[in-house]
Amino acid sequence: MKVDGKDMRPIWFDMASEIVQVIDQRFLPHKLIIEDLNSVDDTIHAIKEMVVRGAPLIGATGAFGVYISLVQENNKGANNEYLVSECKRLKDARPTAMNLFWGVDRVLSAALKQDKYETRIKAALDEALKIVEEEAINCQKIGEYGLPIIEEISKKKNGESVNILTHCNAGWLACIEYGTATAPIYTAFDNNINVHVWVDETRPLNQGSRLTAWELGKHGVNHTVITDNAGGHIMQHGMVDLVIVGTDRTTRAGDAANKIGTYLKALAARDNNIPFYVALPSSTFDWDITDGIADIPIEERDPDEIRYVQGLCNGKIEKVLVPPETSNAANHAFDVTPARLVTGFITERGVCRAAEADIMSLFPDKKKEKNEK
Ligand code: MRU
Repeated sequence: MKVDGKDMRPIWFDMASEIVQVIDQRFLPHKLIIEDLNSVDDTIHAIKEMVVRGAPLIGATGAFGVYISLVQENNKGANNEYLVSECKRLKDARPTAMNLFWGVDRVLSAALKQDKYETRIKAALDEALKIVEEEAINCQKIGEYGLPIIEEISKKKNGESVNILTHCNAGWLACIEYGTATAPIYTAFDNNINVHVWVDETRPLNQGSRLTAWELGKHGVNHTVITDNAGGHIMQHGMVDLVIVGTDRTTRAGDAANKIGTYLKALAARDNNIPFYVALPSSTFDWDITDGIADIPIEERDPDEIRYVQGLCNGKIEKVLVPPETSNAANHAFDVTPARLVTGFITERGVCRAAEADIMSLFPDKKKEKNEK
């Protein structure tokens, strides 16, 4: 996507220096800083500390991490034990997003097919680059499949603005291009449909007000930042036509984990008869589980993310303490929206209902893969 006229992705492989580079998302929207990932430790740090974040991007970063571990191995011979243990360290960086395990395992298995160090390192890089391109195309398709949902509402409203609420950042910064939840929005906007986005600020790290608002603004999409608690009120007053969110892990029965607070939006949407869609590439499905509440691991992050708020002060990025210094804080980073509250999934293969049979009929190959395990 374009930032001030320049094509940008949140991660790329610089061919000249042969270094993986990322946008450091911790300082957006106020500073656009680029970081190099030179080691597995750098890669783990980037994922853990949310230099990079968002399920598909975490997957792509983990995928490059496998290549980076081989560069670091520094021609010690193709050592399987070393590679597998570095992959485990990468997968331990964050627990909820399925894409991390998927991305690391996919590159690991491509690398393990090669016995020689030189061919192994090439296979790892090729596979990581392939993942990046595939995820970009998947997000483009999510945009195309999601477009008719917005188009239909726009027609019913005689071209009046379609008001879409989204939570967290499931935009191109969280993916590679277009985003998941934002892909249908960008596609609608590019097709001259009048859209307006309610952007939940998304405490504690404000991925909505910092990242989604920045992205939408750079693309020229009309948007308004609201507090996380405003959604129910604006839904009751007819100010929301549609909710679209992303997800970090979705079970094959349709329970979807996403940034904390998503579940409450789904409840409010159901109470107000507003369609609630979850947009995701197939890399985010966990084909092995059905019960999201029991089986999706929910990350608990550093309570200081709740206690301190970061922003721009006199040209400098500063953090300030909000609650009393002695108060405890608990930072549950995700919640699970049960399938019964989801109107449908928007995937790279089309739109389906949030039910196991419907999901599996879009992805029959995954059922087969599972049975073959
Ligand atoms: O903690 P984060 O910022 O990694 O959480 C990200 C989200 O919850 C996104 O909504 C999710 O990854 C979907 S991304 C397309």
